[in-house]
Amino acid sequence: MTAAADRPAVGVVPDGWTPRTGSDPVLEIEHGLIGTARPRLDGPAKVRGEARYAAEHVLKGMVHAALRCSTIARGRITRLDTSAAETAPGVVLVMTHRTAPRMRPVRPMFTAPRAFGGTDLPVMQDDSIHWNGEPVAVVLAETREQADHAASLIEVEYAAAAPRTFAEAAADARRPDHLFFQPVEVAVGDAEAALAAAPHAVDHVYRTPGHNHNAIEPHAVTVGWVGDDLVVHDASQSVAGHAWTIAHALGIDEHRVHVTSPHVGGGFGGKTAWSHHVLAAAASKLAGRPVRMALSRGDVYRLVGGRANTEQRVAIGADEDGRFTLIVHTGTSAITPWNHVVEPFTFPARHMYATGALHTDQHVVDVDMIANSFMRAPGEAVGTFALESAIDELAEQLDIDPVELRLRNEPAADPASGAPFSARHLEQAWRAGAERFGWTRTAPRSRRDGEWLIGTGCAAATYPHQRFPGGAARITLTADGHATVAVAANDMGMGTTTAQAIVSAERLGLPVERVTIDYGDSSLPGVFQAGASAQTVGVAAAVIAAHRALVAQLLALVPPDSPLAGRTVDEVGSVAAGLGALADRDRWESYAQILRRAGRHEVTAVADAADRDELQAWSMHSFGAVFCQVRVSSVTGEARVDRVVGSYDCGRIINPVTAASQLRGGIVMGIGLALMERTVVDERTARIVNANLTDYHVPVHADVPEIDVLWTDVPDPRAPVGARGVGEIGITGVAAAIAGAVHNATGRRVRDLPITLDALL
Ligand code: MOS
Repeated sequence: MTAAADRPAVGVVPDGWTPRTGSDPVLEIEHGLIGTARPRLDGPAKVRGEARYAAEHVLKGMVHAALRCSTIARGRITRLDTSAAETAPGVVLVMTHRTAPRMRPVRPMFTAPRAFGGTDLPVMQDDSIHWNGEPVAVVLAETREQADHAASLIEVEYAAAAPRTFAEAAADARRPDHLFFQPVEVAVGDAEAALAAAPHAVDHVYRTPGHNHNAIEPHAVTVGWVGDDLVVHDASQSVAGHAWTIAHALGIDEHRVHVTSPHVGGGFGGKTAWSHHVLAAAASKLAGRPVRMALSRGDVYRLVGGRANTEQRVAIGADEDGRFTLIVHTGTSAITPWNHVVEPFTFPARHMYATGALHTDQHVVDVDMIANSFMRAPGEAVGTFALESAIDELAEQLDIDPVELRLRNEPAADPASGAPFSARHLEQAWRAGAERFGWTRTAPRSRRDGEWLIGTGCAAATYPHQRFPGGAARITLTADGHATVAVAANDMGMGTTTAQAIVSAERLGLPVERVTIDYGDSSLPGVFQAGASAQTVGVAAAVIAAHRALVAQLLALVPPDSPLAGRTVDEVGSVAAGLGALADRDRWESYAQILRRAGRHEVTAVADAADRDELQAWSMHSFGAVFCQVRVSSVTGEARVDRVVGSYDCGRIINPVTAASQLRGGIVMGIGLALMERTVVDERTARIVNANLTDYHVPVHADVPEIDVLWTDVPDPRAPVGARGVGEIGITGVAAAIAGAVHNATGRRVRDLPITLDALL
């Protein structure tokens, strides 16, 4: 490639740029940037310690917040004495329900277009208590230590009612209104009749516990009022969503809240708006000082909801050839009356396998706990544990290789909706993964290495393709051939902005180094969430639209003697830092020349992403096949994962570096789901008793083996840039693969997670 200055600015597409047109099902012109390995653009700032996180911002005159939280789950505050706290050293303010301003709830996600909160409960508005850990007081002091000390001096007494637990309230299970706005029940044929008639069948109950969010960075905000405007340095999965949600709760105009969140130390569904946002803002207003509210690890367990526990029934029947005659996936999960997040564990059964009859249905049980919420692959993470475990159990009964059994039941179209799949190359993923892993079927308890029993297992992975409304982007192109793409996108460390630099450079016909992504700021265009594995394609769709608007503006600038004069947006594309006619290499003009001849320094275009038509017409999902080897000590019952291969079909992979990291990170969480993670609740008080990383176990490096990931990299013709999500699918299937491997090692089938050593002794 020649330097820009050496190239002719008008005429033929410069040598060295040999874009292919028409060869790709999705891209207009292929520059070959998509799929090239790029390290994270935000990596150097993080390694150097220059990346400023929410709790690291220092505002002039700032005070520090500490929380006092309830120790009962249900009832009323009968005495609240803050006098000792108020006179403690350094204390600036003590805020309780008696002094807090009137505020509205932190509206839950999906209850309004930009809502991104966790619960419909009022925040500190009266003396009632709804969960164990609900904040009852905020203390502001000159130092964090002074605030913590003063919070400990507050005297609280309660009239406590007995909390409702999952087991006790099970009799009152109710059917929710919707499952993420899809019907709760799917019924094709008569599944129970088919079960009674099935020559081979399994019918079991699987249980998964509650899980709490444990991102490396605990939740935090640093807030300050500038007149009536609120600045929020946040740790957020949706800056625009947080701006709206905080403004709504405080009863002020959305544009008065400015949320910035350029660096986030992990999210996984928990970095949404919870009570700390509005408590910090309200206390700051009362005190007239900026406030930093950095939640302790324990505070995160009290103020941020996690994944609800589930009890799932899966029944599968098959004929003599192993073809499924029915699938039943039903069950219940915990919820609160104040949120809308039903753990949708029955989704995978709707689209994974061809079957005669299909019945999926869910119920919820109202429990006195903090509102449960999204956690990485809500539904699929725990739903695939039950569904894929049942398939493994059926394969054993049928004496068929579990890989072969799954391939025999690959559906031609979506089994629930009948819609065609946009792209489904799961069989290719299974075969590639089996080859990489060296999969062979072995009898249970047939391999041993000293005290260790060795087993292997496999399971399918899946997560839907999603794209949310509200996508928009702004592209500013300057005469020096640099583009700035502005989007209110969120990078929690997974590489969003690096992927978007690649997507934008590909689209603009620029080197990646000539593209800057502005993100993590609620004042930028669009409403995006780093959630539902939907952000990358959502932003890409906005970039595509903004690029098209930019091309239209550039074409409007070209003079009559330009080789592009008279061409329409559909007839040209970006190539070699300029515009070229798609069908004619002799017609090209550089951006620099177009702008120079028009007397412009820059041109800016803003556009909304195209409508989400692909979601209506197609069944769109990412798929995968997970293989693992596990060893179980015959002495202690301890299970260790030796090796994992994840083979995925997620459409086109934009950046292999960050995609591999996403998939591996998901698998690590899958290992935690299978073997370690469990929120333990004291049934008498509904208090989480392991609200710390000492007692709540997550995988550490010593628990994580070599993880090999591969992918089909087949573009999805219906998805923007051909990509589906990679953010959440990694966690799915892993627990079933590990449970299968544990069974293969020991002969024990464990249907309750996590699989701890007491189940294997
Ligand atoms: Mo994900 S649970 O949608 O952040």
